[in-house]
Amino acid sequence: MSTSAARCWWSSFREVGSATVIHVDLTPHASREASSALWLNEEERVRWRHYPLPGPRRRFALCRAALRAVLCSRIGCSNERLSFGSSSYGKPFALVDEAPPAIRFNLSHSGKHGLIAFAPHGRLGVDVEERIARRDFDELGEAVFGPHEQSALACVRGCDRVQLFFRLWTIKEALIKALGMGFSFDVSRFEVPPVLYQGRMSIFCFPQLPEVHWRVEYIGNEEFSAAIAHELFPSQLGDQS
Ligand SMILES: CC(C)(COP(=O)(O)OP(=O)(O)OC[C@H]1O[C@@H](n2cnc3c(N)ncnc32)[C@H](O)[C@@H]1OP(=O)(O)O)[C@@H](O)C(=O)NCCC(=O)NCCS
Repeated sequence: MSTSAARCWWSSFREVGSATVIHVDLTPHASREASSALWLNEEERVRWRHYPLPGPRRRFALCRAALRAVLCSRIGCSNERLSFGSSSYGKPFALVDEAPPAIRFNLSHSGKHGLIAFAPHGRLGVDVEERIARRDFDELGEAVFGPHEQSALACVRGCDRVQLFFRLWTIKEALIKALGMGFSFDVSRFEVPPVLYQGRMSIFCFPQLPEVHWRVEYIGNEEFSAAIAHELFPSQLGDQS
């Protein structure tokens, strides 16, 4: 697997607490996608070939190859020894020679952007969304946001509304991805506190799961909205800033 700087389509994005976030450039690029496909194992290649649309096919290959490259380098293993399992809700995890290594990850892709978060321990969730004004904002909002979130959205208009919608959305999705359940978990059953969607790091607990603490941070920029959620151990609760 060649990962020379000139050929890499991924780069460091942010350190977030004890997690590292990598940005993956997902702009259409035939030779990158062809190189990616060579790094995938047979099962992944079958999945890649079966995507009916070029966008999702490209995003899967470029992100999975970047994930493989970074995991191999961090763990110190060859690409051939690395494979992936998945939970009953579909959340992937790494295996080296069939055993789980001491590293957690989660990834997300949207349009031209992918983000991959890594950490030595604790469940992780990341979400990235390219911001697009959608006609179904109100309908979607009613389905996924709670009463306080809907009131906050009702107070803003135009670009600010789009920004806030995606802030709330990415924070919620990062949390349910960290939990590992994805949209099997009803996202309208918890609300994002204002301190979090106003842009600051915060510690969050699901009302249904008060004993587990998550370090949550909005990490979007001018090009995309994004958020990360990372499980904290009780010993880490005192040193969050
Ligand atoms: C996880 C989920 C929220 C992702 O939604 P999305 O906005 O389409 O996609 P994103 O780009 O943010 O994330 C996709 C990545 O999340 C990861 N992922 C998949 N399932 C996941 C889960 N349950 N929890 C966390 N991460 C998950 C994968 O790495 C996936 O990328 P890949 O398929 O290219 O490897 C959505 O797919 C979901 O709700 N899945 C659960 C469905 C379920 O219950 N399945 C059970 C049968 S498998």
